[in-house]
Amino acid sequence: MEVKPAVRKKSPSRWEKILFTSLGQVVVEGPLSAEEIAGLILDEGLRMFRPAWRQKEALETIARSPEGRVVAARLGSLVGGYVTFHPPDRFERWGRDRIEGILELGAIEVAPRFRQTGVGTALIEVAMSNEELEDYIVITTEYWWHWDLEGTGLTIWQYRQMLEKGLAPFGLFPVATDEPEIASHPANALMVRVGSRVSQATRSRFENLLFAENKGSP
Ligand SMILES: CC(C)(COP(=O)(O)OP(=O)(O)OC[C@H]1O[C@@H](n2cnc3c(N)ncnc32)[C@H](O)[C@@H]1OP(=O)(O)O)[C@@H](O)C(=O)NCCC(=O)NCCS
Repeated sequence: MEVKPAVRKKSPSRWEKILFTSLGQVVVEGPLSAEEIAGLILDEGLRMFRPAWRQKEALETIARSPEGRVVAARLGSLVGGYVTFHPPDRFERWGRDRIEGILELGAIEVAPRFRQTGVGTALIEVAMSNEELEDYIVITTEYWWHWDLEGTGLTIWQYRQMLEKGLAPFGLFPVATDEPEIASHPANALMVRVGSRVSQATRSRFENLLFAENKGSP
């Protein structure tokens, strides 16, 4: 019988999962400090959002920010995937009012040669093991133009289904909104997880952001 590796709590603020893949032993761990990220190399295939060297700088910046978190999957010192969490940017509807207790799963990316070995799922699993997330509403905005349709060979709808199926076990589900960029294409989505310790006041403030009629502007 196959024994599935579990997430281990390595210290009060560090989680880890080891994956045995065809590439070798992949360590999925975090949150990582900026200094730890500085000592790693990003696989050149991590270029969905920006070139790998710039993505590395972005990861260091997030890790350095007060509520930023970076979880990475590494083969030795080579990073094959990462997921980031940070408060929503001010220019987004979700960050405009600076509501405390909202955290955005900003990006998840796995380099093509590391894909379909469970790395993407493990990144989210390790990140979501942090019980501090019970104090947050975690959101993620899914825009089809960020998806690797060419690299995966999936259609927009298959890709959306893959993401929805992958996020649901971690309590992230699509929520209706009229936010213009999300509403601009039916495959786009706002996925949300409300932590068990989030106050009713924070929930209400967040719900008020979902539709412009609650705020008076888009
Ligand atoms: C989405 C992404 C992170 C998935 O990473 P991954 O390491 O391949 O994910 P996993 O191996 O953990 O697979 C997760 C599930 O998706 C499925 N999946 C992944 N790629 C697939 C593909 N090309 N075709 C069909 N299913 C696929 C897996 O079979 C698995 O399903 P299962 O749990 O039922 O077995 C990766 O494709 C990627 O980096 N894409 C580009 C960036 C992106 O789209 N980010 C998300 C939106 S911002």
